[in-house]
Amino acid sequence: MKTLGLIGAGHIGSQLARLAVKNGYDVVISNSRGPQTLADLVAELGPRARAATSEEAATAGDIVVVTIPLKNLRDVPAVPLAGKIVIDTLNYYPQRDGHIADLDNEKTTTSELVQAHLPASRVVKAFNHIYAVELTTHGQPSGSLDRRALAIAGNDAQAKEEVAALLDQFGFDSVDVGPLGESWRIQRDTPGYGPRRTAEALRRDLATARRPPT
Ligand SMILES: NC(=O)c1ccc[n+]([C@@H]2O[C@H](COP(=O)([O-])OP(=O)(O)OC[C@H]3O[C@@H](n4cnc5c(N)ncnc54)[C@H](OP(=O)(O)O)[C@@H]3O)[C@@H](O)[C@H]2O)c1
Repeated sequence: MKTLGLIGAGHIGSQLARLAVKNGYDVVISNSRGPQTLADLVAELGPRARAATSEEAATAGDIVVVTIPLKNLRDVPAVPLAGKIVIDTLNYYPQRDGHIADLDNEKTTTSELVQAHLPASRVVKAFNHIYAVELTTHGQPSGSLDRRALAIAGNDAQAKEEVAALLDQFGFDSVDVGPLGESWRIQRDTPGYGPRRTAEALRRDLATARRPPT
């Protein structure tokens, strides 16, 4: 991976851009209002970063992160993301996203909705259960005692390996939840959603998650 594409430049998108630049990647970042609104962020990120449209970020990224409100998922351009690893950070907040019956009924997961919208992409859920600010404050070198772990889920084993390697570079262990259909184990209101956890503790939380959350 040389270039990280970002669709979404808010709390999570801007933090992942900082981590990517710090780790030597080029970054192409986008939002809904247009590249000109990202001038301050790009200036802060430095010469490795540029602002673009979502279409351009999707085209430029070797791996592309979709980190926008779920309600706007339909705006994500599918064609330039075909064949690519797409990291999905999305969570479902009905007060923000409107009610989605299949999520209210636990018939599907946010990540399966992303995969359905991007059928030719290799979707990996990641970074959905850590507060944005902690992305740049909780990372530690590989092998650190009590290193924080983050959950990943996906249907493509090789894509998950690549995302796990990226997490490791960014300062985090990873725990594989399984396919996208299992990603409910780390959705909002589950035990693992939010608190700092080592890999061992996160595995326990994932195992005790209940659907719907209790
Ligand atoms: N905040 C957290 O700590 C956190 C933690 C884990 C996961 N998440 C999840 O990650 C996602 C992003 O969260 P966030 O807190 O970073 O959100 P945010 O701060 O509200 O930022 C959202 C970003 O998405 C962009 N955007 C919205 N609609 C778009 C579209 N149609 N095309 C391209 N860009 C679009 C926005 O651009 P404009 O400003 O130009 O509209 C903004 O840059 C959400 O699903 C959230 O639930 C958040």
